[in-house]
Amino acid sequence: MPKITYVDHAGTERTVEGSVGATVMETAMRNNVPGIDAECGGACACATCHVYVDEPWLSKVGLPEEGSNEASMLSFAAVTQPDSRLSCQIAVTEALDGLILRMPEGQH
Ligand code: FES
Repeated sequence: MPKITYVDHAGTERTVEGSVGATVMETAMRNNVPGIDAECGGACACATCHVYVDEPWLSKVGLPEEGSNEASMLSFAAVTQPDSRLSCQIAVTEALDGLILRMPEGQH
């Protein structure tokens, strides 16, 4: 199972096993990883599942398509960066084994 590491704003790392087909947001919630609120439950309607994708993983994870719901919702997220994604829009795959994500200071 692919391992995903979540790094909170203070630098604490939590590595958990993800299930292929689940989203990165669901994986965090199932494993009680703090720092992701996911208030809309994954409907791409709240931007409280915001994460930063560690640079070496950006090419595999990709960025939201221009004009997509995710790109538009990200404009509501706090402190976005060029590597910002909504974790409910990233599906866990075997290719993402070892993925590292960083959390913003807050989701509001
Ligand atoms: Fe609401 Fe991702 S959980 S946008």
